[in-house]
Amino acid sequence: MEDDQGVCRAHAFPQALFLLLSLVLSELSHPEAKPLDFVCVSEARKVMNKVKDLQEDLAQCSAAAFLPAPVRIPCIRVNIMTWKSKPIPEHRAEILQSLQMLAQDIHHARNGSQAECACKLLGRLEHNINNYIHTLTQLHSQSGLDRPKVPDPSVQHVSQNLSLILQRFDLLISRKLEWLVSEMAKECETKTAT
Ligand SMILES: *[C@@H]1O[C@H](CO)[C@@H](O)[C@H](O)[C@H]1NC(C)=O
Ligand SMILES: *[C@@H]1O[C@H](CO)[C@@H](O)[C@H](O)[C@H]1NC(C)=O
Repeated sequence: MEDDQGVCRAHAFPQALFLLLSLVLSELSHPEAKPLDFVCVSEARKVMNKVKDLQEDLAQCSAAAFLPAPVRIPCIRVNIMTWKSKPIPEHRAEILQSLQMLAQDIHHARNGSQAECACKLLGRLEHNINNYIHTLTQLHSQSGLDRPKVPDPSVQHVSQNLSLILQRFDLLISRKLEWLVSEMAKECETKTAT
């Protein structure tokens, strides 16, 4: 990294990471089938989840423990009855919206952070969230459907406690998103068996 001024770099670092991630994901299966891998290869999703790394970084960076701006925490509860009553695209749009809200707030908090380690950590978190947004958006456009209108994401509360925010982000991607993936994975056998 050439940049050691403690200034947040908006784009260079995430793009390098994204390229790396794309390489890792394309190694796992056919390069042209990335979003399908996301749905059908659980290992591809495990590789994508960076929460453990971010938690380790946070343990080394006390400046990031309390964020300078509040972050809206999306609702991560899944109610089986209401879940089953809604079509897949609606769930996908809802999760996408929660992720976008989170990315926006983390970006804001990062902009207000002074310490270099906090800037880097929040940059990595923002990038990780954006990877999920990117993949879900691709899946959505592949489905050929317009994105359904969903109500504003349900916000449980706001927090400036990054440890808590990381926990909730992890629940969003490892619980709620996994629910969605398990529904979508019904298409996997037919598509990969050929
Ligand atoms: C970043 O912070 C500066 C000053 O702290 C502010 O003027 C600017 O609007 C902020 N940008 C974003 C995208 O939040
Ligand atoms: C921040 O959140 C973590 C995880 O929920 C919790 O253990 C910790 O006590 C919280 N810290 C503060 C200062 O509230």
